[in-house]
Amino acid sequence: MTTVKASPQPSTGQDALAMLEADHRAIEQLFDAFERAPKDDLERKTTLVQRTCELLTIHAMVEEELLYPGARGALKGDEKDEVDEAYVEHFLVKTLIDKFTELKAGDEGFDATYKVLSENVKHHVEEEEATLFPELRKAGIDLMALGVKMAARKEVLQNRITEVATAH
Ligand SMILES: [Fe+2]
Repeated sequence: MTTVKASPQPSTGQDALAMLEADHRAIEQLFDAFERAPKDDLERKTTLVQRTCELLTIHAMVEEELLYPGARGALKGDEKDEVDEAYVEHFLVKTLIDKFTELKAGDEGFDATYKVLSENVKHHVEEEEATLFPELRKAGIDLMALGVKMAARKEVLQNRITEVATAH
């Protein structure tokens, strides 16, 4: 069994955006590890894709449930467009993640799908960190309180995934 080291930093006491940025770094490490993986190491690729999909799914759910609705309310005018775009970008990412329910490592399209997924996510992360997050830092949201809520929600979602994964 291949081990994958990349995982988000412990999230206690972090503000919400720092926590999401730590997720971004962890996801980028997985993208890098996939690029470095030997082309024929299907087991490692499977593990990396699985972990990427888990992290991205939890991350996107937490953002959509806890960050974006509040962000839309706190931001003004054109800044709200950033949030609307983020929802659409998440939709694309989720569509690509869904493809991995059928695609197996070694299948035609497996590597290509992961590549396009990583490119989409990198673009999304860039937008969030360059524009949306700085705007939110100025918007007067209680990011520490939001961080606590997010950490709790992430734990519930991670446990649920672990339960499903160990149930069969
Ligand atoms: Fe996001």
